Amino acid sequence: MIFAQILAGGKGTRMGNVDRPKQFLDLAGRPMIVHTIEKFILNDRFERILVSCPKDWMQYTIDILKKYITDERVQVIAGGSDRNETIMNGIGFLESNFDLTEADVIVTHDAVRPFITHRIIEENIEAVLISGAVDTVIPAHDTIVQGKEGYISEIPIRDEMYQGQTPQSFKIKTLKKHYNALSDEEKAVLTDACKICLLAGEKIKLVRGELFNMKVTTTFDLKIANTIVGERMDNA
Ligand code: CTP
Repeated sequence: MIFAQILAGGKGTRMGNVDRPKQFLDLAGRPMIVHTIEKFILNDRFERILVSCPKDWMQYTIDILKKYITDERVQVIAGGSDRNETIMNGIGFLESNFDLTEADVIVTHDAVRPFITHRIIEENIEAVLISGAVDTVIPAHDTIVQGKEGYISEIPIRDEMYQGQTPQSFKIKTLKKHYNALSDEEKAVLTDACKICLLAGEKIKLVRGELFNMKVTTTFDLKIANTIVGERMDNA
């Protein structure tokens, strides 16, 4: 079985003084999260599409989805205290409701990356069915400089550098096994689910993302996102 999980459990603190988490902010007339979910419901390979949001915002999310989304595969559940805990709560939900096998996979995606494409989703599915884990990346345009205590420690070869995006996709049981093997200290540091798999020795397949598959983090990003939607409407 193939599942999707939209990660919307964050509070969006870097967005500054707004009245709701950024995934619910308006993007061209509809909440940002709706744009993201719509990309996933276009794909009929998903058995269930989990939408993980903060506990306090569950009813709000359900109300939004009632208004904009009719697909019965979409299911709102509670997120966790950090991003990985949100993913694990999703896996917990799946374990309670489905008879999972080693072959079952999950495509996890940030709710705040509304410009994901059908190609990226399909390539994640194809890749994760073969490998244990998949990351979506774009080549780094800038030189990446690693620094420590105010000085350069390394300038890695640019051709081998990428910027991480989402989706990140996993064999469900494999990810859970590696996560459960971590200590609480490791869990606090390893905030990227692919890194957990990497350190456990898994091969992680790369899928090509898109520059416009941007993450909306700040008010500046939201302005750019609105511009992208506006231009697409103009060209439609
Ligand atoms: N996320 C999540 N559960 C958490 C924390 C984050 O599902 N406990 C999700 C966010 O909702 C977002 C994605 O992970 O869609 C990417 O995280 P980020 O941009 O860091 O979101 P926030 O944590 O909301 O932002 P901030 O760090 O500014 O508070």
